[in-house]
Amino acid sequence: MVNIRRFWLSSSLVLSLLAQQGLSMVFEDTVAPDAVSPLLENRDQSTEDASFSVFDRLGKDSYYWSGSQNGHKTLANLTVDVGDDEANIVSMEKFRHLLTSVNCTANGIVLELEDTPAFGYLQRGWQWVNDDDDRKLILVMGSKHCGWNPHRMPFVVSSISFDKPSLKARLSGVPSEWKQIFRNYEVTVGNVPESSTTRRDWDDFDKEASLSFNHKIPLSKSIPIPGKDVSVEISCEGCETKGSFDFGVHIKTNAGIPQSASLTLSPNDVSATFTPRLGLSGNMTGDISNEHELVTIPVDGISIPGGVLDLGPEIVLSFGYQIGPIKGSAGITAGVTISLENSAELEIDLLSPDVSAGGWTPQIDTEPVEIDAKIEAGAEVYAKAEIQFAASVFDLGYEAGVNLKPYLGADVAVSTDKGLGVDVNLGSDVGAHVSAGGSKACITPKAGVSLNVDIAQADTPDDPIVEKTIAVCQLNLRMTPRNRH
Ligand SMILES: *[C@@H]1O[C@H](CO)[C@@H](O)[C@H](O)[C@H]1NC(C)=O
Ligand SMILES: *[C@@H]1O[C@H](CO)[C@@H](O)[C@H](O)[C@H]1NC(C)=O
Ligand SMILES: *[C@@H]1O[C@H](CO)[C@@H](O)[C@H](O)[C@H]1NC(C)=O
Repeated sequence: MVNIRRFWLSSSLVLSLLAQQGLSMVFEDTVAPDAVSPLLENRDQSTEDASFSVFDRLGKDSYYWSGSQNGHKTLANLTVDVGDDEANIVSMEKFRHLLTSVNCTANGIVLELEDTPAFGYLQRGWQWVNDDDDRKLILVMGSKHCGWNPHRMPFVVSSISFDKPSLKARLSGVPSEWKQIFRNYEVTVGNVPESSTTRRDWDDFDKEASLSFNHKIPLSKSIPIPGKDVSVEISCEGCETKGSFDFGVHIKTNAGIPQSASLTLSPNDVSATFTPRLGLSGNMTGDISNEHELVTIPVDGISIPGGVLDLGPEIVLSFGYQIGPIKGSAGITAGVTISLENSAELEIDLLSPDVSAGGWTPQIDTEPVEIDAKIEAGAEVYAKAEIQFAASVFDLGYEAGVNLKPYLGADVAVSTDKGLGVDVNLGSDVGAHVSAGGSKACITPKAGVSLNVDIAQADTPDDPIVEKTIAVCQLNLRMTPRNRH
């Protein structure tokens, strides 16, 4: 009897990749949840002041973007804080309706106000920038407010001349970039707090962005093993992953120094089915092992335009094995389906790298191992479905990966070619000797899954700072040796 160790493919394996649909999510500018159109009929002094408060200079303001993917809507919130008495922010999206024209030139912007009260209010508030040479007024132009700006654009105003007769304010300044001006900011994608979803049009925003996990695992190959008298073939028709992952991002930076950066991830009806068929034949004493990437599915452009956020998740499907020794020839089939509870949650802290996780212990369903001939062999095979995140926020880079690895393994020695038809229910991982119908089998089948997270800095992606196993789950398989004669 030969005891089979775990095992199976080779590095020269070239697998045909299925064309996979790229995914994409580009956030578009959206209005603040508290934005109102103050078209008030009867203006008295207090309602007038309230409607003109949209011109008020602020030290801190929030901008919103929305995206949609897989029918889910997602919200991104960028909150900037100038953190400096010498700079203030005003946002044109809030008061564009009070302007009759906006004319952007190379070195300034001319705003024409709709009436004298509005002009007076604006002048009283914005005169501030002229009162000290060091003061800057950051005017955030909405998308297309200049005609030529496709996205929100901050414009740094250094002085203003007010022309009351024509109701025009001439702003001198230059267009700039978010990352150049703001060193204190907070970005949140997904995770919209309950309180902000009270307005109706915000109700359809999902709490988190969603990442499709519906993928076929393209596996069908014979594995050339040079110099060995063996042939190994693997195929897997029904190998696939299903469901989606919800993710959120939160990054906070103070004076250009990140204070917190985290990714959250939780499964949405996620399952992975791994039902390989392995054909082994030959005579090999040692074992071979390898891991091979099958396909990388990029998720294009989860981004907030203007260099605010680029999140490049990709899904990498891999296959790995350890096979050997082999003596004889047989087809082996086995199957495992793992599914995750939707209540599972994972938070990856990218700054003081750490992972907190709960509820990831998967449900595992197995199909019996079947062997159709006399063989002594060892095999362990696994599929690996990995989500890798590369996040860049205002040019700061982070990387993190989460992988789900269902595996199947068996050490098998079937020492007869008589009819077996035996169901062996193994109560332990230690292996069992079973006799039935004049046949003998020694088997140690197992199936399971491991779920791992690693975190790296973008410039040293191969050198993870943290590697953590979130869940390991293993169970023993029922084995059905079956004679093909
Ligand atoms: C914008 O200002 C420029 C320069 O002052 C002027 O030539 C142009 O006619 C203005 N455009 C509009 C639409 O008012
Ligand atoms: C956006 O983020 C800021 C800063 O965290 C927060 O104060 C604000 O409530 C958020 N807005 C929404 C709509 O969640
Ligand atoms: C397998 O290889 C061993 C060592 O090379 C040899 O002794 C044995 O006869 C071979 N068995 C078969 C079935 O080829």
